[in-house]
Amino acid sequence: MDPQRIMNVVFNQSCHPRMQELPDASVDMIFTDPPYYQYRAQNVKGLKNHKDVVTEFEFDGFRSEEAYLSFLEDVLKEAYRVSKPGASGYLFCADDFVSYLNRIIESAGFKVRKVIHWHKTNPFPAISSRKMFANSMELIIHFTKGSPAVWNHKPVNEMHNYRNTAITKTDIEELIGKYQREDKIEQLLVMMKEALRDGELDNLIENPICMGKERTKHKTQKPLKVCVPFIEISSNPGDVILDPFMGAGSTAMAALKTGRNFVGYEIDPGYCRLIQQRFDDFLAGNPGFKGKKPAIV
Ligand SMILES: C[S@@+](CC[C@H](N)C(=O)[O-])C[C@H]1O[C@@H](n2cnc3c(N)ncnc32)[C@H](O)[C@@H]1O
Repeated sequence: MDPQRIMNVVFNQSCHPRMQELPDASVDMIFTDPPYYQYRAQNVKGLKNHKDVVTEFEFDGFRSEEAYLSFLEDVLKEAYRVSKPGASGYLFCADDFVSYLNRIIESAGFKVRKVIHWHKTNPFPAISSRKMFANSMELIIHFTKGSPAVWNHKPVNEMHNYRNTAITKTDIEELIGKYQREDKIEQLLVMMKEALRDGELDNLIENPICMGKERTKHKTQKPLKVCVPFIEISSNPGDVILDPFMGAGSTAMAALKTGRNFVGYEIDPGYCRLIQQRFDDFLAGNPGFKGKKPAIV
């Protein structure tokens, strides 16, 4: 397929098997937020009028856990084929599926590098009658096809506010003193001390869930402030970012705003209309936009 034909396009189709049309090694990065299996049919008791409130998302309707994981594995295998060597991938997931997803990411050929924690600073409240903690964390798995080709360092304080409590060279020296006779640990600590930079990135990002003007009607829309940093760290302007599960198009919007391109899929025509609206707003606000005009096909 002509690479220009896929550039800045969201296909209103299932990513699988449609991704088979993408050429080998044609994308520089993957950024995706697949359907989450675990949201199926939980009645939310304890809310006023709870009878009508169900958090079942139509796009989470897999018949079994096996069917869900096998579908995602097929998508990831295609993602591996279409990725360039050194491409990074980021995949949002819930805590109860992380080990399964790590396994299928690796069986697709990628190397899992780190699980990143997104701390949602404005989580939905826990419903007291359910005696549960509120869910203020979501995970993002970072993986690569071989060694990462791009790593654009970012000051950690763009990701969260814990910078002032970071470990210091003096802290590490103190530990080296304690582990003096344990060769391997001591060596590792010495390497860490040498590598320590001001504002080293760690696996935490803090940001509220999507609210205000940015929020569309999509129920699991991810904020651009959570998408953009990872896209900037692991890709360069002009690169192509793949998202097989576009939702309200946050990956596409983050790519456009940072001078990248995208290709993606969204099965639901209603969500594609939300994406189209975001494209229209972007083009209206950026009359000088020089890239290929984004489109839904
Ligand atoms: C978790 S949402 C993505 C939300 C997105 N990150 C955003 O910020 O708007 C997952 C999306 O995948 C879509 N989807 C589910 N199965 C799909 C498939 N086979 N192909 C393409 N899209 C699919 C759903 O309709 C849903 O919008």
